[in-house]
Amino acid sequence: MATEGDQMTADGVSGTDRVAQDAHARWEALGRVNGPLTRPWQLADGATARARVDPNGLMARFLGDDLRGIHVLLACGGGGQQSAALGLLGASVTVVDQDAGQLARDHRTWEAHHLPAGSLATLRADIRDVAAIDLVGEPFALVWMPYSINFVPDCRPVITALASKLAPEGVFRLQAANPFVLGMHPGDRAGDAYLRRGTYVDGDRVVAADPEWVYDRSLGIDVPRAVEYRHTLSTLINATVEAGLRVVHVEDAVDVPMDPTEAPGTWDHFCATNPPWLAIWAIRP
Ligand SMILES: C[S@@+](CC[C@H](N)C(=O)[O-])C[C@H]1O[C@@H](n2cnc3c(N)ncnc32)[C@H](O)[C@@H]1O
Repeated sequence: MATEGDQMTADGVSGTDRVAQDAHARWEALGRVNGPLTRPWQLADGATARARVDPNGLMARFLGDDLRGIHVLLACGGGGQQSAALGLLGASVTVVDQDAGQLARDHRTWEAHHLPAGSLATLRADIRDVAAIDLVGEPFALVWMPYSINFVPDCRPVITALASKLAPEGVFRLQAANPFVLGMHPGDRAGDAYLRRGTYVDGDRVVAADPEWVYDRSLGIDVPRAVEYRHTLSTLINATVEAGLRVVHVEDAVDVPMDPTEAPGTWDHFCATNPPWLAIWAIRP
């Protein structure tokens, strides 16, 4: 693992760590195929940004309407998505991500939106090392971890480290796989029922096929499957509480279409039955 700043080897893999290698291979390939998770958001203005990053008003509820002057840590948040949206809302943003392409997209998108050059800091590092790194903007009013905690086998030290980067009254938003859904696939079903496989064990390694939308197969480029680790619901919540934070809200379906009227096997129907991602909101007292 890298311990400080950009200390990865020339091929982007720090040491021989399997977790870092898996993440590197996956995100480098997704960038090459311009998959949606590596595609910067097109944001017309602050209202569009707010709609993307705060569709149900929770961020405004916990942090207030005005992000001007606040510092945000985006943990594993590269790609030119949340960074640009939060920048358009007035925040200064520090992004930590292991993928150089994702961080380059943050810079490109930031510049394309004519945001202040000095208000974006990016650091290429493994999030498992974040406790030992002094970050630009620390302590943060908001630590936002988009979907990524499931790429590390043990979420507890990462959650503890991220909590320690928060200012008093700072807000933590942790997105994670719904542990009851991780590993399921829309195409794996019996009639209109979806099959659930694997065991409900914390740290389980899960390597499932991607749903269709993740990348365009017609390009003929080989994209390695995501290697993920199950974090049970109790682990996620208890790790947040034990990191000294007060859990203030839980969302059990984020960023997904949910339409039970669609045909079984479609992404919208699958999500209506098995919402794949949840989010935990917590505040540092
Ligand atoms: C699903 S993306 C999340 C960010 C993106 N903006 C989004 O909302 O979809 C997951 C990100 O986590 C990063 N990542 C995966 N494992 C990591 C690790 N161990 N340390 C740092 N970043 C990691 C990837 O490079 C990728 O950019």
